[in-house]
Amino acid sequence: MPSLISYIRDVFGKLDENHFEVLKVIERNLTRYEIVPREVIYDESGLGERAEKLLKKLNEYKLIWAPMGYEKGFCINYYGLDMLALKALVDRNIIASLGRPLGVGKEADVYDALAPDGRRLVAKFFRIGRTSFRKYERHRTSLLTAPSYLAASIKSAKMEYRALRILHPARVRVPKPVARNRHVVVTEFFQGIELAIAQSLSKPLEILGEIFRNATMAWEAGVVHSDLSAYNILITPEEEILIIDWPQWVPPSHPMAREYLKRDLSNLIKFFRRRWHIGEIPREYLDLVGKICGESLFNAIKRP
Ligand SMILES: Nc1ncnc2c1ncn2[C@@H]1O[C@H](COP(=O)(O)OP(=O)(O)O)[C@@H](O)[C@H]1O
Ligand SMILES: [Mg+2]
Repeated sequence: MPSLISYIRDVFGKLDENHFEVLKVIERNLTRYEIVPREVIYDESGLGERAEKLLKKLNEYKLIWAPMGYEKGFCINYYGLDMLALKALVDRNIIASLGRPLGVGKEADVYDALAPDGRRLVAKFFRIGRTSFRKYERHRTSLLTAPSYLAASIKSAKMEYRALRILHPARVRVPKPVARNRHVVVTEFFQGIELAIAQSLSKPLEILGEIFRNATMAWEAGVVHSDLSAYNILITPEEEILIIDWPQWVPPSHPMAREYLKRDLSNLIKFFRRRWHIGEIPREYLDLVGKICGESLFNAIKRP
C-alpha cells in the first residue's frame, strides 16, 4: 500500500482538464442532490457520454464513488476534494509540489509543500469525521450525511484561515497564512517541534510567559484559541514558539470565551508543572490574563 501522499501525487498527475471538470460538476451539485445523477454530469460538463470514461477512472481512483450503485450516480470523496483544492492551488501558483507528511491528526493531514519559488510551505487538509466517514463507506446506504463532513471540513479551513489572517498582522506568534482553497489551508513552514515532546527547555517559565502574552494579544485581536495544548505549540531549538491549529476559535464576545481562555491556560499550566516542575506562576503573568478572566483564573490555577 503506497502512502496516502504518494497516492495523491500519483493520481493528481494522471488527471486532465476533463477529469477536473467532471469533479467540479459533482462537487457543485452536492447541495442539490445527495447523489449526482449521471445525466446531470453529462449535461453540465458539456461532455455528454464522453464523461462516462472519465467517471470510471475517477471512481477507480476513489475520487468519487457510487453509494447507491453505479447506475444511480455519484458523490465526491475526500480525495476528490483534495484534487480540486490542489488543482486550484497549483493553478494560482501557490504551491508547486507536496512533500512529506508532517502530522496526521484525527481531523487533519498536514504536509510539507513547496512554493514555485522554492519557499517551504505547509498544506493542512481538513478531514472532519474521517473515522466515521470510513464507516459510512462500509455501510454504503447510510452515507447520506457524508457530504456534510466535506462541508464541515471546508468550514474549519475557513475558520482557521480567518484566525490566522487576524492574528498574524496583530503579531501573535502564528503561522503566516498564504492561501486557502476548499478544505486546505496553506501557511509558511515553521522549523519546530511540538512543545509536548521537547526534551529540554532552558527557561520553561519564560516560555509559559510568552504563551500567556500571546493568548492575551490574541484576545485583544478578537480570537480565543479554545484548543490550546502543548501539542498545538511548536518550539524551535532557539526556543521561539508558534501557536498552531485554530479552527475552533471563538471571539471574546462568545458566551464561553472566558471559560475557554481559562481552560486553555490552566491546561498549559498543568503541563508545565507536571513536565517542567515550574514553581509559582509569576504574578505579572496572572495579571496579564487576570484583566480578562478576573479573579476566577487564579482559582482555576491554584496549586492542587
Ligand atoms: N506551520 C507549520 N510548520 C511546521 N509544522 C507544522 C505547521 N503546522 C502544523 N505542523 C505540523 O503538523 C501537525 C498537525 O498540525 P495541527 O494544525 O495541529 O493539526 P491537527 O492537530 O488538527 O492534526 C503539528 O503538530 C506539526 O507537527
Ligand atoms: Mg493539533
